[in-house]
Amino acid sequence: MIDYHVFFQNALTSLKAEQRYRVFADIERRAGDFPHAVWYDEGQSRDVIVWCSNDYLGMGQHPDVLSAMQNSLLTHGAGAGGTRNISGNNHPLVQLEACLADLHGKDAALVFTSGYVSNEASIATLARLLPDCLILSDQLNHASMIEGVRRSGAVKKIWRHNDLEHLEDLLKTAGRCRPKMIVFESVYSMDGDIAPIERIADLAERYNALTYIDEVHAVGMYGPHGGGICEEQGLMDRIDIIEGTLAKAYGTLGGYIAADHVIVDAVRSFASGFIFTTALPPAIAAAARASIEHLKQSAEERRQHQLQVRLTKEALIRAQLPMMATQTHIIPLFVGHAEKCKQASDLLLRKHGLYIQPINYPTVPRGEERLRITPTPCHNKAMIDHLADALISVWQELDLPFGSYETVAPPSVVNQHKVQPLQIYPVAGG
Ligand SMILES: Cc1ncc(COP(=O)(O)O)c(C=O)c1O
Repeated sequence: MIDYHVFFQNALTSLKAEQRYRVFADIERRAGDFPHAVWYDEGQSRDVIVWCSNDYLGMGQHPDVLSAMQNSLLTHGAGAGGTRNISGNNHPLVQLEACLADLHGKDAALVFTSGYVSNEASIATLARLLPDCLILSDQLNHASMIEGVRRSGAVKKIWRHNDLEHLEDLLKTAGRCRPKMIVFESVYSMDGDIAPIERIADLAERYNALTYIDEVHAVGMYGPHGGGICEEQGLMDRIDIIEGTLAKAYGTLGGYIAADHVIVDAVRSFASGFIFTTALPPAIAAAARASIEHLKQSAEERRQHQLQVRLTKEALIRAQLPMMATQTHIIPLFVGHAEKCKQASDLLLRKHGLYIQPINYPTVPRGEERLRITPTPCHNKAMIDHLADALISVWQELDLPFGSYETVAPPSVVNQHKVQPLQIYPVAGG
């Protein structure tokens, strides 16, 4: 007799022994009061401040977004009622795709049920359709891109993170005639650094490769209309496929690609993860479009966001906490120890009422554990001061080293991350 239960229990036990077992805080966000939230724990509830949300601009509670969702819910009902092919192709979704194509200056867009699915389905489908395709994938690409690469069945080569020389070597070896797809992100979600997009596009042109960029951590927040880093740097037409999410800065749910008609039609026609699943509900599509339209014409949220990011970075530097150098709104605080990272997060929540999820392996390599702090326009100076004081107290209590990231982290880790000079990324158009 096989005792299946024991196999699963053993798997969980080893995960716990490696400090990799994930515990989800039971958090209830309060619309209109974000970043305040209620934390439920062992029958008790208490008010906490969320410092790790990917609702980067607080659009999940924006009145335009809420009323679009409410109106559509009452007009169209709750669900989509089917896959896109079978009765689920709702009008708000069609309007959303037109809005996304316009945002990125592309012919067309295609919406998926999440950013994860959009990456997995699009990368796998495109690479599978290209005979003998070679995928060149940045070393720090997100799990959803890695899964897409894997599912494509194509040969892959990993290029060292943001290392153009390495990328060029691989392109050169493959030659101009072999179909190639370069897949990378604009803003890397755990380090907060930015890819050299223009130079990657130059290489792609020189070696005749297709380019696929994940702008999940940039759409809504960068560029004069929120079109991401590619818009900010005037590069949208240099990249073949732009992928994004509706679940982070846009505050709702869903993912998408934007590209030329033929590429979008190919993914629409061949991607299993698009075809065989129920469409996004109309109320979510309507809310997402309201959010995108708002951020296309309003730079205020971006300006406020960058301001709170700058103030937070300055406070952490003043407190001599080991903040990793970052060019963007993502602020990683180096811990470098799985158990202490979890303990720091627990102390922040239980003792100081601050919710910051620990980031441990496999999201980051072992020895690079960190707290990932994401200020929003809804945070303020009092909250930032409270955060800095609480972090100092936790660092003292856990005997974690103070000082700059370069002095605290092992040199191998610092070198690996090729620390760039600290800067706040400028907000174009605002
Ligand atoms: C870089 C990157 N791409 C894609 C995704 C998936 O997006 P979604 O949360 O919409 O599924 C994430 C999610 O965190 C991400 O960090």
